[in-house]
Amino acid sequence: MARRNIVKMGDPLLRKICKPVEKFDEKLWQLLDDMKETLDFAEGLGLAASQVGILKRVCIVEYDGVLYELVNPVLVKSKGKCVDNEGCLSVVGFRGMVERPEKIDIEYYNRYGEKIKFHAEGYFARVFLHEMDHLDGILFADKMVKKIPD
Ligand code: CO
Repeated sequence: MARRNIVKMGDPLLRKICKPVEKFDEKLWQLLDDMKETLDFAEGLGLAASQVGILKRVCIVEYDGVLYELVNPVLVKSKGKCVDNEGCLSVVGFRGMVERPEKIDIEYYNRYGEKIKFHAEGYFARVFLHEMDHLDGILFADKMVKKIPD
């Protein structure tokens, strides 16, 4: 495993639309392993592949000690609205209040290409949505209703 460099806001890589994964091969597993090592070192809640310069629809979330590896995730259903604070490993110096759905149903593939259906609520749902936004080149800073000094 190897830790990878996290690109920061201002880098055009963060603004690209990422491409779907087609092969669930060792190269993907290496990417996922490296992303976990990078996330753990940075002490974040989630990381998207575009944040380490790989323009694939891959992101990871680590929540309550459980690691979720999402490949080609899609939002299937959402309900409600809530506003809460967010930060990002690619955004240095500030956090922001962002409105997001309160409950979500998502579908994604795990590293072996098996389809997973998942329901999340509250801040847990927020972390997934934040990471999934990265896959479309969107940062929380684009959506924030209020900027908060870090
Ligand atoms: Co982020």
